[in-house]
Amino acid sequence: MPEPLRIALAGLGTVGAGVVRLLDTNAALVAARAGRRIEIAAVSARSRDRDRGVDIARFDWVDDMTALAIRDDIDVVVELVGGADGPALALARKAIGARKGFVTANKAMIAHHGLELAEAAEAAGAPLKFEAAVAGGIPVVKGLREGTAANAIERIYGVLNGTSNYILSTMEATGADFADTLAEAQRLGYAEADPTFDIAGTDAAHKLAILAAIAFGARIDFAAVECEGIASVRAADIAQADRLGYVVRLVGMADCEGRNGALHLLQRVKPCLVPKGHPLAHVTGATNAVVAEGNFSGRLLFQGPGAGDGPTASAVVADLIDIARGEAGAAFSVPVGELAPMAPAHGGERTGRTYLRFTVKDQPGVLAEMTAAMRDAGVSIESLIQEGRVEEGGEVLVAMVAHEGPEKNVAHALDLLRGSDSLTAPPLTMQILA
Ligand SMILES: NC(=O)c1ccc[n+]([C@@H]2O[C@H](COP(=O)([O-])OP(=O)(O)OC[C@H]3O[C@@H](n4cnc5c(N)ncnc54)[C@H](OP(=O)(O)O)[C@@H]3O)[C@@H](O)[C@H]2O)c1
Repeated sequence: MPEPLRIALAGLGTVGAGVVRLLDTNAALVAARAGRRIEIAAVSARSRDRDRGVDIARFDWVDDMTALAIRDDIDVVVELVGGADGPALALARKAIGARKGFVTANKAMIAHHGLELAEAAEAAGAPLKFEAAVAGGIPVVKGLREGTAANAIERIYGVLNGTSNYILSTMEATGADFADTLAEAQRLGYAEADPTFDIAGTDAAHKLAILAAIAFGARIDFAAVECEGIASVRAADIAQADRLGYVVRLVGMADCEGRNGALHLLQRVKPCLVPKGHPLAHVTGATNAVVAEGNFSGRLLFQGPGAGDGPTASAVVADLIDIARGEAGAAFSVPVGELAPMAPAHGGERTGRTYLRFTVKDQPGVLAEMTAAMRDAGVSIESLIQEGRVEEGGEVLVAMVAHEGPEKNVAHALDLLRGSDSLTAPPLTMQILA
């Protein structure tokens, strides 16, 4: 058999320990498929003594992980530390600069610095791969780069954050409100002690920016992702959605349109109403799913565990097998110089149906004020539901579904109502997924 592929693992936490376990358990089949053995030559993390549930004493330990980048006995550096900048980025720059292959599960770093790293990797002739950065165990990067390579992708969207999806689908099942469900998710280990990245939509936005770049051949542009999380979704919204035939999901979506001779890219993470018959409506718990619509393939659904040691390690080792086979290819599917700069598409130019929810004082004239704002902004109301009192003290919930129409009209209606004495909280809008 040819020489083994010698790798270094930086980071031995959930994913790093998972990679050690996978390479131990599946050594023979990995070697058969890669055409050579994949061997861990050195490892690094913060604490040498921590029990990681796997035997790391047999590997060479390095305190300063950037030292891994320049060792002659290492072909590929695997970064499983995390963080957009800091030690992970320093390691990436150094390893790629030293012409090592580089594999990472770090979506934050790729979303922020992916272009720079891909450019450096091309210049160095070194493979850069990040399957595990998007949707854990689901081979969606590979699916887009290879499986749908013959298609123009018209739209890509999905449920990209397991924690948010766990919270929303639990609220749906139990009728509990957001805060209680989040607390329970934290107790059960489905949400981090600091869940901000997950519930604010940032984690989904990182993944969406990576998917959009690959799907549309666009220069990755994380700053252009419109992002709204799930903290404003109430149990009452989920109940209204249910009555109307929908479930609520945090959806990341991207599409690209030609306007005035230039391409514009819409990237948006937002709670949406998903028809109960749509495949994304059946994605519950911590599962992730991505839908890619190709002009010849039609609608494809990639679904599976979006996190966890086993699934994420599976994606990391799949990248290593590609590198061992000599099948790395361009990180974003085409060389960086061919990625198109695309201006952000303004959501307001889009048309669609929208769910709007207001919490208002229980007093005469409030409903007339809401509907007048809709009329003045050119928003046509398809249905209107007024709930009973939410709380003693007179707060009332008014939900509306707007007919298909420009999103900018809905935004205009909200502008007209901004500062109104009748509102007790900022309104919530959710796009209705077509
Ligand atoms: N967990 C998942 O399910 C999952 C899924 C997809 C992608 N990812 C991504 O995979 C990466 C790793 O995630 P994880 O969940 O495995 O994280 P984790 O369990 O927190 O592990 C992080 C590892 O990095 C080491 N580390 C942290 N800061 C360091 C520093 N300054 N210098 C040296 N080592 C340092 C830690 O060392 P010690 O162990 O000694 O503290 C630990 O071994 C992240 O980019 C994450 O976004 C994770």
